[in-house]
Amino acid sequence: MLVAVTGGAGFIGSHTVDRLLGAGHRVVVLDDFRTGRRANLAHHAGSERLDIIACDVSHGIFAALAPVTARHGPVERIVHLAAQVSVVHSVANPLVDMQINYGGTLHVLEYARATGVRKVVFASSAAVYGDVAIMPVGEDTPTRPVSPYGIDKLASELALDYYAAVHGVPTTTLRFFNVYGPRQDPSSPYSGVISIFADRAKAGRPLLIFGDGSQTRDFIYVGDVVRAIAAALEDGADRVVANVGSGGEIAVLELARSIVELCGGRSAIHHAPYRPGEILKSRAQVDRLHEALGIVAETSLLDGLRETLR
Ligand SMILES: NC(=O)c1ccc[n+]([C@@H]2O[C@H](COP(=O)([O-])OP(=O)(O)OC[C@H]3O[C@@H](n4cnc5c(N)ncnc54)[C@H](O)[C@@H]3O)[C@@H](O)[C@H]2O)c1
Repeated sequence: MLVAVTGGAGFIGSHTVDRLLGAGHRVVVLDDFRTGRRANLAHHAGSERLDIIACDVSHGIFAALAPVTARHGPVERIVHLAAQVSVVHSVANPLVDMQINYGGTLHVLEYARATGVRKVVFASSAAVYGDVAIMPVGEDTPTRPVSPYGIDKLASELALDYYAAVHGVPTTTLRFFNVYGPRQDPSSPYSGVISIFADRAKAGRPLLIFGDGSQTRDFIYVGDVVRAIAAALEDGADRVVANVGSGGEIAVLELARSIVELCGGRSAIHHAPYRPGEILKSRAQVDRLHEALGIVAETSLLDGLRETLR
């Protein structure tokens, strides 16, 4: 089948494309390369089943997809990953964040409604919960996002549910926790902490922790996330909203020590004051991921770190 992957040149997107092509599907990537890179898909160069289209999804996707659907028939499923991904950027530029993250989702949903797409899978975020006191965080926890990024992800979720209920567009929402793995870009200071620590530890440079490092995160390896996306693309799980995490948590200091050790122990660990608004604890309740999609995270943090460093 023909699957459109918005944000397919990014970190999670490029792994999603690998999986879909590996399963024999035809894939069209829509990406404006804001943070994604063509290099992430370079290993598919020449693939007859992959189209890569430069397109800003927040300005519509009909025209961009028209040449592909003229050749290969309708888009059957969409994985919507394209987003402005920095929480910090969203605080400084809430209008840009809304236009890309909420506006982009509406354009995707309008396309799905108009053309009869059979499933839209949406990349939401643990940011919809805000700062939650009780762990693990289940999907029924009240959502109180504390950033424009979280607000726009939540608004997108509501839009998905509306299109499902009123227009009959099948949708599944995945709330990613902290995803890590190969191809995560360490060059941005707002990138995933594992990619930044790994980059520094490999070069023997110091690692910087904000606060004492007791803050915890639920890290999930990108391979497990992509399995969840593939399961959500199947028929069923309509209007399901599921956390995508490992169900465990690790303190950032322990994580830093593990990465330094795996890299030969040359890096010092430095501390700076906590960043305002930083969430102290995060751990996903993952029962629904298992019950609705049959997915349990399989990659241990150590194995995932080794693979990322390699
Ligand atoms: N990585 C995580 O830990 C994590 C956690 C929660 C949610 N998410 C969500 O998962 C999705 C993928 O994130 P990622 O970590 O792979 O980040 P990424 O930056 O590597 O991927 C985002 C992709 O979207 C593209 N993009 C941005 N704006 C676009 C636009 N207007 N039109 C077309 N393409 C556009 C970027 O160029 C990039 O390729 C995002 O929606 C993000 O919010 C990620």
